[in-house]
Amino acid sequence: MKNLKILAIETSCDDTCMSVLENNEVIDNVIISSAQIQNNFGGVVPELAARYHEKNIIDAFNIIKQKYNLEKLDYIAYTNEPGLRVCLNVGEAFATSLSKIINKPLIKINHIYAHIFSFANKMQLTDISFPFLGLVVSGGHSSIFLVESPNNIKLINETIDDAIGEVYDKIARSLNLGYPGGPIIDQMYEPSKAILTFVKTNFANDKPYSFSGIKTAVLNYINQAKMKHEKLDIIAIISSFQKQVINGVLDKLTYYMHQYKIYNVAIGGGVSANSLLQSEIKKIPMIKHLYIPTKKIFCGDNAAMIAIYANLLIQAKNNIDQ
Ligand code: KG4
Ligand code: ZN
Repeated sequence: MKNLKILAIETSCDDTCMSVLENNEVIDNVIISSAQIQNNFGGVVPELAARYHEKNIIDAFNIIKQKYNLEKLDYIAYTNEPGLRVCLNVGEAFATSLSKIINKPLIKINHIYAHIFSFANKMQLTDISFPFLGLVVSGGHSSIFLVESPNNIKLINETIDDAIGEVYDKIARSLNLGYPGGPIIDQMYEPSKAILTFVKTNFANDKPYSFSGIKTAVLNYINQAKMKHEKLDIIAIISSFQKQVINGVLDKLTYYMHQYKIYNVAIGGGVSANSLLQSEIKKIPMIKHLYIPTKKIFCGDNAAMIAIYANLLIQAKNNIDQ
């Protein structure tokens, strides 16, 4: 099969991303983030993020254009859903115009499905053991998918309230730890200090993920202590939260492994970079093939995953066509 060269574009939230993939490998991965600017407004402001995309996408393209001959591209892939509509529009307009100018075919890519396959750098379709369960944990999503092939993906569970990354960010904000909260809490985590129980939870069932109970209990605990002017043991709070929430995520995943008798698992999304999640999932004995993004940068939003998933979709289609 011909080794494809793909340019990928991702603009679904506040990161403007462009990647190049060749011979099944990501060879360039540009990310220009406006997250810190957005954070001054207390979260992502779609119109503002879109304006930054308009500027940043030209900067990203100029970096790529200097290094590669665009004539050699086989495809242009871009995120068309889901995400902030005004932000997606910037990537779509750019990708569509470029495809017309240089006369290369376009592929529309689903952002969440790309997170599922973000582990597959340097892999081709035949290297992956299907079916597997795909866990996507990020600032916008907490979901489990049954993945039969790149174009046969079924949602089997998703959160009914907050996404797990959102809860990390809200707890970090209430403790003035900075943004985004996930990596900060992850760095501060101390297993021996995970001694508090904020609320009893049971995730080992087929109920939809729900993180609002833990979030509210932790925030109430913090607020009450602040009101009473008690000194907060921040390490104990964030360590106990992280242990409970990560165990909860994995309990549900394990439940579905038993239910579906599927023992191959892939993880993706910003929270999949979490050290505790990665160390705990590696200890689950029944997992046969565990697929984890090879670099932490591939966990969060990026265009590498858009290129990787596009590459696999094309391979799957070519298999059927042959
Ligand atoms: O996938 P992503 O970059 O963007 C979305 O599609 O949402 O995920 C961002 C989320 C943020 O909420 C961030 O706090 C969280 O991922 N995150 C982490 C870690 N690194 C990023 N959460 C826990 N532990 C981490 N190491
Ligand atoms: Zn994402």
